[in-house]
Amino acid sequence: MSKVYICTAIPYVNGNPHIGHAMDYLLADTCARYCRLQGDEVKFQVGTDEHGNKVFSTAQKNSVPVEQYVQENSDKFLNFINRLDISYTDFVRTTDPEHIRTCQEVWQKLKPHIYSAEYDGWYCEGCERFVTEKECQENGGICPDHQREYQRLSEKNYYLRISDFKEQIRTAIESDQMKISPAFRKQEVLKLLEDTPDISISRPRKQLSWGVPVPGDDDQVMYVWVDALSNYISVLGYPDSEELKEFWPATAQFVGKDILRFHAITWPAILLGIGLELPKNIVTHGHVLANGQKMSKSIGNVIDPIEVLDRKGLPAFRYFFLRHIDSFADSDFTWEKYDDAYNNELANDLGNLVQRLATLCSKNAVSGAAYLGHLDPEFSALMDKFEFSKALNYVWQKIQSLNKRIDEEKPWTLAKNGEVDKAKTTLLSLAQELLKVSYHLQVFLPETATTITETFSSEQILPPKAPLFPKN
Ligand code: MSP
Repeated sequence: MSKVYICTAIPYVNGNPHIGHAMDYLLADTCARYCRLQGDEVKFQVGTDEHGNKVFSTAQKNSVPVEQYVQENSDKFLNFINRLDISYTDFVRTTDPEHIRTCQEVWQKLKPHIYSAEYDGWYCEGCERFVTEKECQENGGICPDHQREYQRLSEKNYYLRISDFKEQIRTAIESDQMKISPAFRKQEVLKLLEDTPDISISRPRKQLSWGVPVPGDDDQVMYVWVDALSNYISVLGYPDSEELKEFWPATAQFVGKDILRFHAITWPAILLGIGLELPKNIVTHGHVLANGQKMSKSIGNVIDPIEVLDRKGLPAFRYFFLRHIDSFADSDFTWEKYDDAYNNELANDLGNLVQRLATLCSKNAVSGAAYLGHLDPEFSALMDKFEFSKALNYVWQKIQSLNKRIDEEKPWTLAKNGEVDKAKTTLLSLAQELLKVSYHLQVFLPETATTITETFSSEQILPPKAPLFPKN
């Protein structure tokens, strides 16, 4: 048994959750359940990123005091996470006093690597990111992600001397000591690292009032990313706590592709600067698209996850986003794909299988079996590489072969022909196989797996009262 720490990116609270936000939670939750299944003790952080100009100006636009605004939106994310049945252990808010204390401790410890200088350059408010001259030119002065003009800034900032750590970061990435998955993202980061300048880590208070004050300089406020990234260790009680010793470095940090640079360059530089180890894995997922397009408020194609949840329930939601949204690549959501996956796969492949097999077992008085937990090596190999959508594909192939086996072995004709013992043995073997499938399925669809396991391990197997996935 080992201690495992799993982290997710904390979303900005300048709006409601959308379906894309589900990815960090679902992937991390699958990882957490997989680790627990193997006996690990898991600490699992989620939370909300509440400072910065983006949040502040949206609160103002909505004419709501910023404290109230962040509280309300943080609650929406918390509700969403709970509705997804995410098995987190800690929910952190960057406005928590403990978190703010951690940020200031981090800053103090980083001081030998901090210097003050004028920043004269570009900034994207949408990304909350300083942009190099080269990047600004390449993009024609407009952020491709936010379709907004970069702002020109000329101000005093504190800088973090990234050059102090570049070599160490490069070595850690190249050697997979801090492993970036998938592999093509590792190459991207190595390339990006070459051109990374020192990073500005504060802004003048008159430009950014909603943030953590820089210790010892009332005129400066911490850059939102230094504040946000520190959440991963404020959860563990940095600087001195038993939990920090027990759970750091993180086993896996789950992030979207757009924020990989902060997690693979800025965050390691901060960690090295304060003398902490680097996370063991950074797992990078792609984006969920809506009808092939990036979701955006201006296009008006943002999909509300609550609507998706209400349509077919939680297992369908978890199933679609874990199987049909690739764990690493961009993937598309459409209502049609969603409904097809529900009808053809959940209802037909799995729901019917459970109903049919349980009915046959019940008719032939087959007693339930126990399945002694064991994961197929092929499945584990995929899970260990965070290839969760492929691992769920693997489970689905097992479900499809079980359906095929029933059709071929026709246990109902055996019974009709008087071969009662043979019918019973066949059904028992099929039930055992389904229990095995369910054991693998539990990391993705815990609720469904519990129902299947209870059904086929009870003394008297009875079909579930209602179909698992009713068609409407
Ligand atoms: N607040 C920062 C993260 C700080 S972590 C120390 C942030 N917030 S965010 O709300 O913009 O994004 C939160 C997470 O959601 C990120 O991992 C991001 O990549 C992910 N996604 C945002 N839109 C997404 C999709 N359309 N699809 C999948 N993930 C998406 O960045």
